[in-house]
Amino acid sequence: MLIIVLYTIIIINLKKLNLMSVKHVWPALCLALLFVVDLASGQGTASLGAQKTKIPGAKPISKDLFGVFFEDLSYAADGGLYAQLIQNNSFEYSASDRKSWNPLTAWEYTTEGYGYGTISVETAKPVHPNNPHYVLLNIDDAGQQGVGITSAGYDGISIIAGQKYDFSIYVRQVSAKPVDMQVQLHGDKGAIYGTFSFQTQAGAWKKYTGTITATASADSAALTVLGRQRSVLAIDEVSLFPHNTFKNQPNGLRADLAQAIAGLEPKFLRFPGGCLVHGDGLNNIYRWKNTIGPIEQRIQQRNIWNYHQSTGLGFYEYFRFCEDIGAKPLPVVAAGVSCQNSGGTWRIGGTGQKGIPLIEMKSYIQDVLDLIEYANGPATSVWGAKRAAAGHPKPFNLQYVGIGNEDKQTNDFRDRFKMIYDAVRAKHPEITIVGTVGPAPSGEDYDLGWKFADQLSVPVVDEHFYESPEWFLKNNNRYDSFRRPKSKVYIGEYASRGNNLINALSEAAFMTSLERNGDIVQMASYAPLLANLKHTSWNPNLIYFNNKTLAPTVNYYVQQLFSVNQGDTYIPGIVSLSQPGASADSILAASCVQNSKTGDIILKIVNAGPQAATASANLSGLGAVAANAKIDVLQGQPSDKNTIDQPKNIVPSHAEISVAQLGNYAVPPYSLSVIRISLKGN
Ligand code: AHR
Repeated sequence: MLIIVLYTIIIINLKKLNLMSVKHVWPALCLALLFVVDLASGQGTASLGAQKTKIPGAKPISKDLFGVFFEDLSYAADGGLYAQLIQNNSFEYSASDRKSWNPLTAWEYTTEGYGYGTISVETAKPVHPNNPHYVLLNIDDAGQQGVGITSAGYDGISIIAGQKYDFSIYVRQVSAKPVDMQVQLHGDKGAIYGTFSFQTQAGAWKKYTGTITATASADSAALTVLGRQRSVLAIDEVSLFPHNTFKNQPNGLRADLAQAIAGLEPKFLRFPGGCLVHGDGLNNIYRWKNTIGPIEQRIQQRNIWNYHQSTGLGFYEYFRFCEDIGAKPLPVVAAGVSCQNSGGTWRIGGTGQKGIPLIEMKSYIQDVLDLIEYANGPATSVWGAKRAAAGHPKPFNLQYVGIGNEDKQTNDFRDRFKMIYDAVRAKHPEITIVGTVGPAPSGEDYDLGWKFADQLSVPVVDEHFYESPEWFLKNNNRYDSFRRPKSKVYIGEYASRGNNLINALSEAAFMTSLERNGDIVQMASYAPLLANLKHTSWNPNLIYFNNKTLAPTVNYYVQQLFSVNQGDTYIPGIVSLSQPGASADSILAASCVQNSKTGDIILKIVNAGPQAATASANLSGLGAVAANAKIDVLQGQPSDKNTIDQPKNIVPSHAEISVAQLGNYAVPPYSLSVIRISLKGN
């Protein structure tokens, strides 16, 4: 558009200056128009870099191609990215989360120094009705040290000497006199690593806060809260955060994990799942409104992955994280139906997919519309005001909303999806809706899903592939022959069933095809993202972690190399690959993109086989390029992987390469090479 405007201005000015006759103006305008239409169709030429070289066949591709998918699975949120160190910190665990759990799970009653008393779980006069359970501590005799409760966090609290930890607690002093309280951060053999003391006040629930500086490092510290006099105290919301959360945000995220995600430079972040979104039964559907506002007022619930969602990492925190890492938010809401596997349909008695009763759909749809207002509405709007009250008056610039996740294509699903879809489109035509086409790359739900998406002209649909490395290599041409125009594709979840180099390379080869088809593939995200090594319920994942550290997988480095080297123009025919007996759609693959911000040309070359190959890059049509390029190479043996003990076993190596060498580049066996070439003058 800009081009045509500029072109028209030039022509009109030339005309004014009488340098062009009328009979020349119209053909020139038509030429300009044709040029723009040609570009928009993606079939023609594109101008590259400062030199404006026209490249035949170059086409614009999605600017949002590579992003991340976050789901609270394998303790990815509670016990993971969400930096809260105290497990079950508001005593809301229950047998519905897991049969053996109750409100005192992960807590111990502590009577050091010969004190005695009792604890019980109560619900009368809670901090907030949404957070009904609390501990009633009845101290008969405080002994020498006090009586209280102890949390060992999630399998022990990991602390670092010299670091600060922010503590808070709600206490309602039930007995008459003020009580001296001591909070201790300590080791399992009694070593004290830091304390904080306060005195309770009479009256209603009151929040007490303090900071503890750890005097030593420990992997399995615990936190004890002690009352020092005979008393009765109601206790809730016991909280301990590292002071240094990601970007120092309150109620924030674990810095190393958040930084690892930020290091991917994702163009978008999909949240909060996955199956977590449509839930295990209607009552388990994720309701975003339950997850915002003051922590003690949020509604917690069972996690479909057999644990608990504290909702401390809620929609406000997700949006804020997106902003902090420069990723577009992609919240997904249930399509008005629960997961088809609800209740374990493989077992007798499972409930399967259920639709929200039609009479309740109006209010459910309103929730979806309110979500958009929460993200984008002015601070004066009802939901925008709640965002502002949480500390973010400016909108979050929401552009995408997903409706549904892998849902079985039934009439219940279709009816409800359409209701939500129509309402969002009518009120928010500016939002790009992402639909869903089942859990697999083919099959009944896939076919029916696409048919339905075609009928409704859903702008983008979400495909999922958990397949073998061979599948990814064989399917390199999957989107080459996709009907265009059609709904665009979001590959919302994919992984090749393993974390070895060969898995990562098969994904890399596939990702070159996503770039090649980036006119139709709008977005793609590996899944799942995070797994706590002590609570992994799904494999493979992109990043594994324990309480102390993390191990990005080889797959992570592939994602990162593609993501930080994204382009917005695809240039065909630049790299030719050769190797006896191999073809580009099997173990060899390559792509070439240009990033219009930097002007750089980026080549990605994958060899997923045991023999070296030759890549020949013909850069002659691209104009003058710099003499040297940057090159990152990830290579090794097919079974190489990173582990928590050897997290850097296989990482990319970084070097410079002479561009002249790219005419005959020896591609190492089992490797991904990413080569970044600057255009002269950029
Ligand atoms: O990524 C793990 C799960 O796989 C997701 O929750 C679900 O959408 C898919 O089946």
